[in-house]
Amino acid sequence: MSDNRLIEAAFDVRQHAHAPYSQFSVGAALLTKSGKIFVGCNIENISLRLTICAEQAAVAAAVTSGDVDFVAIAVVADSKEPVVPCGACRQLLAEFNPALEIITSTVDRRRETFLLSELLPRPTQGILESFRNV
Ligand code: THU
Repeated sequence: MSDNRLIEAAFDVRQHAHAPYSQFSVGAALLTKSGKIFVGCNIENISLRLTICAEQAAVAAAVTSGDVDFVAIAVVADSKEPVVPCGACRQLLAEFNPALEIITSTVDRRRETFLLSELLPRPTQGILESFRNV
């Protein structure tokens, strides 16, 4: 799977973004070990705080399909610099693969690649045992 195919999928789904408040449309495409791609776009809400990020929508699509072995995610937005996932999305992605590859591109194809472990070096983890003791 080439990064290009993943980026193109993020470009395509970006067209479906519901972003009437910020006018900032984002597309995300998540690649799983099986080679499948799951896409998502941002879905804004008038309350603003209920907004769903494109990455979050892509994760929901993959998990709903029972495909949780995430390999890479591509993110596309019309920003000056390639956007990086917000803190909440980093933690959400880390739930499934703390070492996920993140490829992010502007619409004029300025591209950067990161590892999630660089952007979120210490994801919240290891509290399961405490949950069980309650
Ligand atoms: N947004 C995303 O969907 N993903 C990102 O990585 C950055 C921000 C969305 C949320 C909101 O709808 C708009 O972009 C402005 O923050």
